Amino acid sequence: MSTDFDRVIERRGTGSLKWLRYEGTDVLPMWVADMDFAAPPVVLDAIRARLDHGVLGYSKPHPGLNVTVLAYLERAHGVKAEAEWIEWLPGLVPAKSMACRAVGVAGDSVITLTPVYPPFLAVHADAEKRLITVPLAHDEASGGGWAIDFDAMERAVRPDTRVFLFCNPHNPVGRVWSRAEVEKVAEFCVRHDLLLVSDEIHCDLVLEAERTPHFSAARLDGPIRDRLIVLMAASKTYNIPGMALAWALVPHPAVRRRFRAGGGKLIPELNPLSYHATEAALRDGGPWRQELLAYLRGNRDHLARVLAERLPQLKLAWPLEATYLAWIDARGLGVDHPQAFFEKAGVGLSDGRDFAAPGWVRLNFGCPRVTLDEGLRRLVAAVDTGGPGRAG
Ligand SMILES: Cc1ncc(COP(=O)(O)O)c(C=O)c1O
Repeated sequence: MSTDFDRVIERRGTGSLKWLRYEGTDVLPMWVADMDFAAPPVVLDAIRARLDHGVLGYSKPHPGLNVTVLAYLERAHGVKAEAEWIEWLPGLVPAKSMACRAVGVAGDSVITLTPVYPPFLAVHADAEKRLITVPLAHDEASGGGWAIDFDAMERAVRPDTRVFLFCNPHNPVGRVWSRAEVEKVAEFCVRHDLLLVSDEIHCDLVLEAERTPHFSAARLDGPIRDRLIVLMAASKTYNIPGMALAWALVPHPAVRRRFRAGGGKLIPELNPLSYHATEAALRDGGPWRQELLAYLRGNRDHLARVLAERLPQLKLAWPLEATYLAWIDARGLGVDHPQAFFEKAGVGLSDGRDFAAPGWVRLNFGCPRVTLDEGLRRLVAAVDTGGPGRAG
């Protein structure tokens, strides 16, 4: 491996959102979805090269960027897109908000599947719409298996529902939805006259792509194309979320117009460095990404082993097919507020309540193994000394 993912980089004092929350305390941050690794050298070199030009004025995508994106889409995901489909944006969260404003009127509804990344539960409010949540089906008895409950979706959808907010791969449960599932989602959206907004930010973080390949909604043909917004970015995979750049693929020109209008005057011109960072990542970041995935698979398997052996009170959502986020059922601990319980013990996890799943926590294992081990040591110590689930 040419990248040393074991190297610990001090992030305190850099304004890191992840580390700032616990600055001045001994809590290890394992919450928000960014990794404690440096971005790939090819990305850093591209940023430096652009910086060396010296002028950082208002910028549009430079010639070649869309060509790189189109080539990446076809090579990595079998998506045959067109340059006109691409809308550049500062992030996937604002994009979801814009999408909710692109269709229908105030008082209409938006549907999504829970548990889910918290902004999915909030963006409807920007469009004065209401939210319908449908729980994913989960086979609790066997401790695994998450599925889309299509029967529950049929029962929940209403005549005023306008948007389906879909997360694929799914944060936080880690599922990579299959081609059949994506097709069924699309069929549901067409039948109920919904805009399908497919957030695919984690699509290049599939841990065993040969077994569970990502199937992008942008591969779908037919009537779904007239009601589709696919959201992507290099930000998660190459650990450059602070660069704040994402893109939407919107095949239908009228939807594209309404989507753009949904941004009003809120969307600024984008950062010129971010365009170059994204281009380098998509074009040249492949070898680094493969090394990253190998490291993340190692962390995931290590985490699963330690939880199974030392913390049977915590149940890891499995199979964990994508992302560096572990979704953990902590209800077996018997504490009211597991996130606060573990925070007190020195580990800062994401709180399941924010994902519409009280009693669960999410652990970010996108970090050097020693950091993960320290986090696990603290979890074990917390349960051994403080939890009602203590052995013996
Ligand atoms: C599913 C999903 N969508 C979007 C985002 C954030 O997107 P952005 O930073 O581009 O707004 C995240 C970050 O964790 C995410 O997990």
